[in-house]
Amino acid sequence: MGQRHLFMVATCLWALSCALPLAASSHDALLRINLNKKSLNYEALTEAKLARQQDEDARRLLLKFGGSDSDAVPLVDYLNTQYFGVIGLGTPPQNFTVIFDTGSSNLWVPSSKCYFSIACYLHHKYKSSKSNTYKADGEKCQISYGSGAISGFFSNDDVLVGDLVVKNQKFIETTRESSVSFIVGKFDGILGLGYPDISVGKAPPVWLSMQEQKLLSDDVFSFWLNRDSDASSGGELVFGGADPNHYKGNHTYVPVSSKGYWQFNMGDLLIDGHSTGFCAKGCAAIVDSGTSLLAGPTAIIAQVNHAIGAEGIISTECKEVVSQYGEMILELLLAQTEPQKVCSQVGLCLFDGTHSVSNGIESVVGKEHVGSDVMCTACEMAVVWIENQLRENKTKELILQYVNQLCERLPSPNGESTVSCHEISTMPNLSFTIASKTFVLTPEQYIVKLEQSGQTVCISGFMAFDIPPPRGPLWILGDVFMGAYHTVFDFGKDRIGFATSA
Ligand SMILES: *[C@@H]1O[C@H](CO)[C@@H](O)[C@H](O)[C@H]1NC(C)=O
Ligand SMILES: *[C@@H]1O[C@H](CO)[C@@H](O)[C@H](O)[C@H]1NC(C)=O
Ligand SMILES: *[C@@H]1O[C@H](CO)[C@@H](O)[C@H](O)[C@H]1NC(C)=O
Ligand SMILES: *[C@@H]1O[C@H](CO)[C@@H](O)[C@H](O)[C@H]1NC(C)=O
Repeated sequence: MGQRHLFMVATCLWALSCALPLAASSHDALLRINLNKKSLNYEALTEAKLARQQDEDARRLLLKFGGSDSDAVPLVDYLNTQYFGVIGLGTPPQNFTVIFDTGSSNLWVPSSKCYFSIACYLHHKYKSSKSNTYKADGEKCQISYGSGAISGFFSNDDVLVGDLVVKNQKFIETTRESSVSFIVGKFDGILGLGYPDISVGKAPPVWLSMQEQKLLSDDVFSFWLNRDSDASSGGELVFGGADPNHYKGNHTYVPVSSKGYWQFNMGDLLIDGHSTGFCAKGCAAIVDSGTSLLAGPTAIIAQVNHAIGAEGIISTECKEVVSQYGEMILELLLAQTEPQKVCSQVGLCLFDGTHSVSNGIESVVGKEHVGSDVMCTACEMAVVWIENQLRENKTKELILQYVNQLCERLPSPNGESTVSCHEISTMPNLSFTIASKTFVLTPEQYIVKLEQSGQTVCISGFMAFDIPPPRGPLWILGDVFMGAYHTVFDFGKDRIGFATSA
């Protein structure tokens, strides 16, 4: 196995941060794509927030994402994304800086036929008339993102990825990009690495074309993301194998549970070894190189924020639920009421164990039409928290006090929360359970440092992002996780492997 012969030599695509070619060993012939990294900056983050606030409601994108219709909705928030590289499109190759994104499946770049979008003026544009290998398609398409949409049409051409020429790849020439994120983004387009099931127009993702054209001796690609902000190399994407220089020990593999995103079943998140409950029986998770942070259910993120001292917004609904119903919830749980029935029994949710309902419930406290969806959600979170505390044999007073504190740690609707940079060394380890193994994130790994006018701001790498059933609850393991764990995307065996990054 160790002598696997991979055919491509190392290559260096990103001119500015080019390491020396890595073709030193004759056995080591992996196709390496050096990734460039853009430091996160706080202003950019704020713009991202603005962009998202301009959406009528940040949560709509969750609904969109969680919707059961089969429309592909690639993940959002490209603005914060740090890792990108260069590909060549056409013959002779026209260069484009793209995000390699495992959370979507299409390849798209701006078209020379894009006339009316500012975004197109600021980026490289593909000119089909300058390419000998261009084949027209012309079918129109549109992709909706959380903060905008791109539209364009399909074309076919050769794609140069490293030294590898992928023939006749179907891709999108965009003619309109209506999103702030795309305008400010430092990249021209996106190269999606998800499954074809979420590809718009059923265009095969680039890895599938590589597989069909037998360009790879091993049907995998792998990511190493360098979290060292001072290093010249941002990371490495390898097609056809994994670079042994960048991981320690063996990979732990989990099967892909649903082909679309790179999705698998994940277990509990532990804070200093203590269960956070919500995913104890398993939650879906996806690995997404196109998201910078790590996103998860609000009920868990609030507990993480509490444990690490992150500031959130005070949720009046949450506090109201605790003060009015806290004791009742506690008593019901002590009386062995099934947790998913508690909130309907106290009258805050219409049905058992679901977020989806309750428009127009008359509030029991006598107010007309309280934001009852919010109350229902707050109640369901309180149940999870109280259950956890009961398991630890805490007293009633302590439990209600703690749950009340958690209300204050509820993340803001935009998800990010700041922490004190001085207290990183006192923060707990957080551990994910994957394939019965524990994957630890230390505070140094999950706290993200940003520069804001010469000052360092620290934010929690965990953000709240709720996706309703049946597709949720869902974890999105973005760059914060992938930076700690070298990740193999094995499309030959439909599995995902994680090993400690090196
Ligand atoms: C495209 O990128 C490659 C690799 O970085 C470089 O050698 C080539 O000169 C670039 N081509 C153009 C037209 O900029
Ligand atoms: C990795 O796997 C190989 C073969 O399965 C085994 O021999 C080796 O001991 C493992 N290494 C570690 C560090 O677990
Ligand atoms: C809580 O108390 C029960 C019964 O008194 C005991 O069996 C259990 O181990 C205790 N749990 C913890 C976490 O202390
Ligand atoms: C946190 O995890 C790291 C790495 O696994 C370990 O070295 C360290 O001792 C842990 N710290 C605590 C407080 O458990």
